[in-house]
Amino acid sequence: MPKTSVSLKTPASHSSGGSTAAHPRALLDFAAELLGGENPVLEKIRREIPEKGLPPINIGPEEGKILETLARSCGARKIVEVGTLAGYSACYLARALGPGGIVHTVEYDARHAAVARQNIESAGFAKAIVIHEGAALDVLPRLCSEGPFDVCFIDADKANYHRYLRWAVENVRSGGLVIGDNAYLFGKLHLAPEKAGEDAAGVPAMREFLKTIADAKLFSSCAMIPTSEGMAVAVRR
Ligand code: SAH
Ligand code: DHB
Ligand code: MG
Repeated sequence: MPKTSVSLKTPASHSSGGSTAAHPRALLDFAAELLGGENPVLEKIRREIPEKGLPPINIGPEEGKILETLARSCGARKIVEVGTLAGYSACYLARALGPGGIVHTVEYDARHAAVARQNIESAGFAKAIVIHEGAALDVLPRLCSEGPFDVCFIDADKANYHRYLRWAVENVRSGGLVIGDNAYLFGKLHLAPEKAGEDAAGVPAMREFLKTIADAKLFSSCAMIPTSEGMAVAVRR
């Protein structure tokens, strides 16, 4: 990714995610330690993402705990994730699963999927997480027969978020959750598309995503968790 002065998608602004803009890292680290710190296996998976040459665009550990807590709160046994990268967020989702539960995660980059497969094995989730390689718009229709799902976590290409949400509306059960990372669109959600540079196509897509996830006819409740990236969550009606 080229570094330009206008881009908000610099590694520093989003690489490890999880922090909220308003608080210093030292405070966030202190609080995270009080909550028990990160599991060493997950910490290693996260640390090795850039070392293995993958882009550092995973969620952070605080967001991981948010995902795990949300998934547990609805008793999730069947989860779909769109955008695997190295399997880091998938592991947090898998931690929430009851016995026999499963996370289906979709990834179109074979190199990412290969790293994820290793990581998932080392975390002991080989049976609980299935990686589906392919473009999400091709793979998701094939997953319908495995549903309905308790949770759908959307974290892949932003220009298709509204399409992934349309699938989730049809395939997440009543009382289940839809969660979207990067809902602030790297700080560009409110900009005119022509001012959003490489995220031009993401602007209308993320706005439609948010309009739909806030539709009270489809979701009984919707909230924006103000992580640094913005994490939208809604309960399917
Ligand atoms: N959820 C991961 C991060 C995902 S990063 C975590 O937090 O640990 C987004 C991933 O989506 C990248 O690995 C990228 O290759 C993948 N991706 C992007 N567009 C995609 C598409 N159309 N179909 C499937 N995967 C896609
Ligand atoms: C990017 C994607 C993400 O899902 C994220 O959390 C941060 C950055 C990206 O495509 O640059
Ligand atoms: Mg993301």
